[in-house]
Amino acid sequence: MADHVERAGPVVRRGPGLHSVSGGDYEARGVSKSFGGVTVLHDVSVHFCRGEIHSLIGENGAGKSTLLKILAGMLTADYGELVLNGKLLSALSPREAQRSGVYLVPQEPRLMPDLSVAENLYLGALPKGRFSAVAWRQIIDTTEELITSVGLRADPRLPAGRLSLAQQQLLECARALSHGCGTIFFDEPTSPLTARDAERLFELMWQMRDQRLTLGFISHRLDEIEAVSDRITVLRDGAVVARAERGTWTRENLVTAMIGRKLTITRRTRRTAEPGTIMLDVDELVAPPEVNGMSVRVRAGEVVGLAGLVGSGRTEFAETVFGIRRPASGSVRVNGRDVTGASPRKCIDAGLIYLAEDRGRNGIFADVDIARNATSAIVGRLPRVAGPFVRTRKEQEIAQAAVLEMDVRASSIVAAIKTLSGGNQQKALLARWMLAKPLVAIFDEPTRGVDIGAKESIYSIIDTLAAAGLAALVISSELEELVRICDRVYTVYEGRVAGELAGDAVTLEALGQLAVGALWRRQGTRSRCLPPGASCTCHRGGPCCCAAARSW
Ligand SMILES: Nc1ncnc2c1ncn2[C@@H]1O[C@H](COP(=O)(O)OP(=O)(O)OP(=O)(O)O)[C@@H](O)[C@H]1O
Ligand SMILES: [Mg+2]
Repeated sequence: MADHVERAGPVVRRGPGLHSVSGGDYEARGVSKSFGGVTVLHDVSVHFCRGEIHSLIGENGAGKSTLLKILAGMLTADYGELVLNGKLLSALSPREAQRSGVYLVPQEPRLMPDLSVAENLYLGALPKGRFSAVAWRQIIDTTEELITSVGLRADPRLPAGRLSLAQQQLLECARALSHGCGTIFFDEPTSPLTARDAERLFELMWQMRDQRLTLGFISHRLDEIEAVSDRITVLRDGAVVARAERGTWTRENLVTAMIGRKLTITRRTRRTAEPGTIMLDVDELVAPPEVNGMSVRVRAGEVVGLAGLVGSGRTEFAETVFGIRRPASGSVRVNGRDVTGASPRKCIDAGLIYLAEDRGRNGIFADVDIARNATSAIVGRLPRVAGPFVRTRKEQEIAQAAVLEMDVRASSIVAAIKTLSGGNQQKALLARWMLAKPLVAIFDEPTRGVDIGAKESIYSIIDTLAAAGLAALVISSELEELVRICDRVYTVYEGRVAGELAGDAVTLEALGQLAVGALWRRQGTRSRCLPPGASCTCHRGGPCCCAAARSW
């Protein structure tokens, strides 16, 4: 076990569970913040009350994460006050914020993947027993107790990197409770989760609210916002533009407040032209244990979806097609060219690109500027001064045009990409891959963390590219998204194609039923629609799995 962790912090006793923590009334008063002369928060006041779920909504770059980071002591406001239970907090550091009971579950996971679940839980504060030896027995026992209280079933000794993203979120919640934090902010916790995993998180949030904890929540999915929030604050360009309590908002009002205009939703234009030749031809691809013989075909001009539960092997399939993982058998052809087991670079040369799901791990170069991030897939094609030296001005012009097309909101093209808001990073990645002018594109959760207006532009970009002949494969956990943009959808279960729908048969109901059917087949029963141990949340007003199961 890593000893730097043992030395890192003070001794703590066993952490409290869900039932022994209570929240506080937490207020931001007149908070302003600038980065390099650009004001990103302007005189923002928000009051988070005990026993409430208070959501922040707004477009990408509106300032939501910045506000939460200030409240959690990770950033310092230029002006304004933070008041907790009537007491003014000054010079707040993350450690002091935690000591005051405030915890932020951040937008990007920050667990140490190689450390165990237990070590991550007690990071910086491993309990010590006699002779200052780390009290492992105690740690394992309390970890088990704590993670069970948030509904996480995992071995405390398991490396945290082996947990699914949904489980990592639950571990973050357990960590907040282990520090005795009763004021918990969630920055887009559901963006990497499927609807079912998100519902489980909401169950936990509702339990926390019933225990009078104070909860802050950010999401770009308005149905989630409407389902969980007691109160909503809308931010636009760093200022509060609307506030609403449960029962006083309408979807239309929220959207108009967020984007400052009415949103026009373009319906899916069903492609009339017959799709062209097969551009991506994957035959019986095997890469154990996740991919177990998947065959997928996408023609030029077609948008094809992959639907499935988290863990169904869709991302692993995409990574194997793109050469990030090695296949054990099967074949991959791009425009007739065999690229089975080829490197990502060879795949790009053959005309295949992959917009990764996990932009932190497989996507951005965090410290590198936006321009270089955007042009990194076409370095070989950039104009040069001499030898290997790229014409920087030209490179920046090319990048600028691409990021403008994707509506990336950035103060400068030469700023490090990590300074962009989460959604804008996603759009910058999209710009990178579109510059590569691919024949085949695999989009893995293309609108994850992207605001409702930008989502519409991404849909229309995919549509336009397909109309120009691109073969697109879209992996998405949002069934509505697949129904909106796809001509054909494969449902994936345990690394195999379990079903296929095409044209007008691609509906929400049909996709939902295929997913439930796959689950049943695994359980070998029709009497239960949820996996053992999972709780049905249909009484909370979310999508009802039981109803889908009955109508199947
Ligand atoms: N460290 C930083 N340096 C410079 N600019 C920053 C930094 N952090 C954030 N910003 C800028 O502040 C603005 C607000 O960013 P923030 O991350 O708060 O937006 P957000 O509302 O959370 O957006 P998203 O929905 O995309 O996550 C953005 O324009 C972003 O580029
Ligand atoms: Mg954010």
